[in-house]
Parts: sequence; structure tokens; C-alpha cells
Amino acid sequence: MVLERLSRNMFQESKPSEYLYSPDLLLRLDFTKSPAQFSPHISAAQPGESWMVVRPLQRSDYDKGFMQLLSQLTSVGNITRKQFDDRFTQMKQSGGYYVTVIEDTRSAKIIGSATLTVEQKFIHNCSLRGRLEDVVVNDTYRGKQLGKLIVVTVSLLAQELGCYKMSLDCKDKLVKFYETLGYILEPGNSNAMNMSFLWIAPTEFSSILANPGSRIRYAILTISRRNDRPALQTVKPL
Ligand SMILES: CC(C)(COP(=O)(O)OP(=O)(O)OC[C@H]1O[C@@H](n2cnc3c(N)ncnc32)[C@H](O)[C@@H]1OP(=O)(O)O)[C@@H](O)C(=O)NCCC(=O)NCCS
Repeated sequence: MVLERLSRNMFQESKPSEYLYSPDLLLRLDFTKSPAQFSPHISAAQPGESWMVVRPLQRSDYDKGFMQLLSQLTSVGNITRKQFDDRFTQMKQSGGYYVTVIEDTRSAKIIGSATLTVEQKFIHNCSLRGRLEDVVVNDTYRGKQLGKLIVVTVSLLAQELGCYKMSLDCKDKLVKFYETLGYILEPGNSNAMNMSFLWIAPTEFSSILANPGSRIRYAILTISRRNDRPALQTVKPL
């Protein structure tokens, strides 16, 4: 009985953490289909280092610095494990979310990430359209082809899943980067326009924290949705 429980526990401990989508999908990708130049040649299945793995997001990535990595891209907020777990479950259940990461297995840290979202359409014979989102590589690993690797991985994945096209928004300085990976600017046909639903309350300092023993003071700047409670708080040095 004890032995049985022990072996069940061991099995559970060694069971890989749940994936957001099937990792087999990444093994099928044909990197020769991408115009990207890799030197030396790498792919999602063979990222060039034995300590590197390209795979779908796993539930355990919360503990592997995934949120910290995203904070190098934009503001993330204080996401609790429960919030992460709930969002992971929602993404998995609704389908169409392909958050893909690169892990440094030596340190068990997530060092790169990109997301493919797949929209279902009625147009073009009930087609699928891919969108590339949230591309980031840990700053100490940049310049080593990992940005190219993660973007090409999700772009080929979009093709593999049957998307008729893939789109992205980016800053001017990254246009060249994406052009080398097969993305094309279409002036007059693909302006990015946004309507933001976040607004900054007129310099509303909800509280001011004085750091005892130091002259540095911080203000908590409250950013709220137009008609309900505060959604996000950033701390700014005064
Ligand atoms: C953009 C980013 C993902 C690139 O990652 P990376 O691992 O450094 O990229 P790579 O090593 O694969 O670089 C590929 C090429 O793009 C160029 N490049 C990379 N980052 C660039 C940048 N910020 N501006 C201009 N060119 C850039 C490189 O010089 C390289 O060119 P080369 O092939 O001629 O040498 C990384 O800089 C990053 O995480 N930036 C912060 C978050 C961000 O801006 N994300 C993009 C949102 S759209």
C-alpha cells in the first residue's frame, strides 16, 4: 500500500507539467520553408544547444520566470499564481492560443517567448488568420538568433495550422527584423490603428510612499478603466 502510494507520487512528480498545446506540432515544422537565414542553422526541434528547448508554454512556467520575461516587453502587473493558472486554463479551453517559449534548461528559466493567436473567420471559405503577439527574448540572450528562432517557429506553426495569413504590429525600428523573416509592409493597406480602453486618471496619486531613511519618494500612479475600479498600478519615482 505504502509502496503503491510512493510510486504513484513519484509518477506524478516526474509527469511533465501540462502543455498549452501539443508539443508534437513543433516537431513537424519545416524551417526550409522560411526565408529567414540562420547561421549556424537552427530550428525549433534542434535549437543548436543541448540546454535549449523550444516548446509550448507549460503551467509550471510561472515558476520559471515567464512573467519576469514578459515584463521586459511591457507592463505585466502583479500576476498571482491563481490568476496565471486561470488564464492558462481559459486559453487552453477556448483554443487558438499558441504561446511558445524557449527554455534554458540549465537554469530552468524561460528566455524567449512569442504568441500565435488564431482567429476563426467566415470569410475566405471559413479561413483562419494568425496574429503574432508578445515577442520577447531575455536581454542577456539577445543577438544570438533566438528572436528569429521564436518568430519563425510561430509563423511556421500558423502555416501548419492552415492560416491564410499572419499579421503583426511593431515599432519602426523592428520592421527590418521582421522583413528578414518574411513579413511585408503594405503601405496603404495595413495601417495599425488602436483604440485604447485604458486611461490615466489626471495625475491622480492615490498615495505617496515615503521611504524612511532615504530621500527617494515614490508615487503610486493609478491607472483605471473608464468606469470601474483601478486596473493597474505602476510605481514611479518622484
Ligand atoms: C526584438 C527581439 C525579440 C530580438 O531578439 P534577438 O534574440 O536579439 O534577435 P536575433 O538575435 O534573432 O536578431 C535577429 C536580427 O534582428 C536584428 N535586431 C534584433 N533586435 C533588434 C532591434 N531591437 N532593433 C533593430 N534590429 C534588431 C539583429 O541585429 C539581427 O540582425 P542580423 O541577423 O542581421 O544580425 C529582442 O530584441 C527583444 O526582446 N526586444 C524587446 C521586446 C520587443 O521589442 N519585442 C518586439 C515587439 S514587436
